[in-house]
Amino acid sequence: MLSRKGEDYLEAILNIAEKKGYARIKDIALALGVTPSSVVEMVKRLNDLGFVEYRKYDGVTLTPRGKEIGKAVWGRHTMIRAFLEIIKVPEKIANKDACIIEHELDPKTIEQVKNLVNFVQSAPDYPQWLEHFEIFCKTGVHPCDEGKRKEREHRLSS
Ligand code: FE2
Repeated sequence: MLSRKGEDYLEAILNIAEKKGYARIKDIALALGVTPSSVVEMVKRLNDLGFVEYRKYDGVTLTPRGKEIGKAVWGRHTMIRAFLEIIKVPEKIANKDACIIEHELDPKTIEQVKNLVNFVQSAPDYPQWLEHFEIFCKTGVHPCDEGKRKEREHRLSS
């Protein structure tokens, strides 16, 4: 089993390599917010485990096995980020937290998150319950309950 840190590396290398064809040590360090020397250490370990190919002057590329894992982690990341954005988590936080959650969830949970995201995204119109949720986040009151609340307030004030 690859460690959570290892998964983060493969994910980062995948994203960098998709743009540039390979990843340099300093690109990876920048993406993960770590020092180049810790990147070298980890990349050597991932190389020995068969997940990446590291050549000192050519940078780092993923092996097919490394690519498979990097893609799986990135897939979970985008799914969780979409879910967090649906429930109104700000984009930056959603992105950061997706990177934490992506390692820990049971495949069944991921499947249901995916179902929910697809369900919401395929809604013909912006779903009403989601609009109600937004109002609920701001006011603490479900709009469907608004009538009841007014009644209650009226009773209390009279
Ligand atoms: Fe991530």
